Amino acid sequence: MKYWNKQVETMPREELQKLQLSRLSTTLERVYKNVPFYRNQFDELGVNPQDVKTFEDFAQLPFTTKGDLQQGYPYKMFATPMEEIVRLHASSGTTGQPTVVGYTKHDLDTWSELIARLLAAAGVTRKDIVQVSFGYGLFTGGFGLHYGIEKIGAAVVPVSSGNTDRQLQIMKEFGTTVLISTPSYAVYLGEAMAERGLMDAISLRVGCFGAEPWTEAMRTEIENRLGISATDNYGLSEVMGPGVSYECREKDGMHINEDSFIAEIINPETGEVLPHGETGELVITTLTKEGIPIIRYRTRDITSLMPERCGCGRTFLRMTKPRGRSDDMLIIRGVNVFPSQVETVLVEMEETEPHYQLIITRDGALDSLEVKVELNENYFSDEMRVMHALEDKIKTRLRNALGVTAKITLVGPKSIERTAGKAKRVLDLREYL
Ligand code: DLL
Repeated sequence: MKYWNKQVETMPREELQKLQLSRLSTTLERVYKNVPFYRNQFDELGVNPQDVKTFEDFAQLPFTTKGDLQQGYPYKMFATPMEEIVRLHASSGTTGQPTVVGYTKHDLDTWSELIARLLAAAGVTRKDIVQVSFGYGLFTGGFGLHYGIEKIGAAVVPVSSGNTDRQLQIMKEFGTTVLISTPSYAVYLGEAMAERGLMDAISLRVGCFGAEPWTEAMRTEIENRLGISATDNYGLSEVMGPGVSYECREKDGMHINEDSFIAEIINPETGEVLPHGETGELVITTLTKEGIPIIRYRTRDITSLMPERCGCGRTFLRMTKPRGRSDDMLIIRGVNVFPSQVETVLVEMEETEPHYQLIITRDGALDSLEVKVELNENYFSDEMRVMHALEDKIKTRLRNALGVTAKITLVGPKSIERTAGKAKRVLDLREYL
C-alpha cells in the first residue's frame, strides 16, 4: 500500500492551495469568534478574517508563540466549549509553564487519518503487529499513534515506554513487526537485543521514529542494528502531536500534511518569510483543528521546505529533517553548534557508539565544550597511547565539523544513561556558574 489517501496525498497543488485557503478562512472565522486572544490581535491590526483571501494576506498575520499558549494556560486558547472536547494532552512543561491542548471528536478522527498516512508511507499494513513504545499519557506520542494504527487495521500493542526487558519479551513473543519509538530508544533496544542474543528471535521489519532530531547517519546505524527500514515522522503537541509530517519510502524529506497545515519558513531573527529551499524556523498554521486551532505558530524547529516533486508521487511539500531547535542551538565561543552536528561525526566513526553528551561550562569568560563519547567495546584498550590517539582523532573530526575545539572524554561502553523517551544530550552548566 503506497498511499493511505491517494486522492488527498497526490492532489494537484493548485487544488490543494484552494483547499488550504478555504479551510484557513473557516479557521480564522472560528478563532476570531471564539478566542479573545486572536480577536484582540486582529482588531489591533485592523484585520477582519474575511479580508484574508490570499497567502500574501495571510503572511501579514501575527505569529503565535509558546509564551502566548502558556499565558492562555489552561483553556483560554480553546475555540470550543469544554463539552465538545473529548481529550486533553499537555506538553511536559520542563521549560516553564506547561501548555494544554484539547481535541474534539472530529480532531481525533483527523488525527487518526494523518497518522494512518504516515504508517502507510512507511510500509505498515493491516497484517502488521505494531508495538508502541512511546509513553501513553499527557505526551501525544502514545495515544496519538495508537488510533492511526487501529485505523489502518494493524494490531496495536500499547506497551508504552520503559522497561526494556519487557519490551523485548513482548517483541519476541507477540511477533512484533513494527516498532514505534524515539530513535534514541530504538538504538538502545537494538543494543539490548544484541546483548541478550535475541536478534534472530525478533521479527521487526519497519520502524517509525520521531519526537526528537536524528541524523541520516543515525538512521543507517538503526537500520543496520535492527535489520529494519526506518522512517522519520514529525509533529508537536501545540499543533496536534505526531502526524504533522512524515517520510515516504524515498526517505528524503518529510511530507507535510498540507490539507491540515500551512507551513512557512521564517528568519528567526526578523520574522521575514523565506523562500522555499532556505533554512529557518518552521511556522505552522492548523487548518482543520476545532479544539485549539493555532495561527502561525513559531515551532522553533530549524528546517527548510523542499519544493521539488518527490519520486513517490505525493504532492505535499517536504521539509528536511529538523536539525534541532533554535533554542537547542548552542553558542560556544561565538560559534553556533547543533548537537546533530556532533552526532553525525560520532555515528560515522566505528570506534564510537551513538551515545554521547555535550557538557558546556564557562571558565571566566571562556566557554568550554566537553564531549563525552561512549567507546565501542572492540576498541577499548588498556594502553593510554591508543586511547589518546583516539581522543585526538575525534577532536580533529569535531573541530573540522563544528569549528570549535572540544575536550573529548572517552567513557566505557554502556556508561551514558539511556532513556526510553527523548534523549537528553546537552548539559549546559553555564548559567549556574
Ligand atoms: O514530540 C510529538 C511527536 C510524538 C512527534 C511522536 C513524533 C512522534 P512534543 O513533545 O510537543 O511533541 O515535542 C515537539 O519535538 O517541536 C521538535 O523540536 C521535536 N520533534 C518532534 N518530532 C521530531 C522529528 C512530540 N521527527 C518537538 N525530528 C518538536 C526532529 C522532532 N525533532
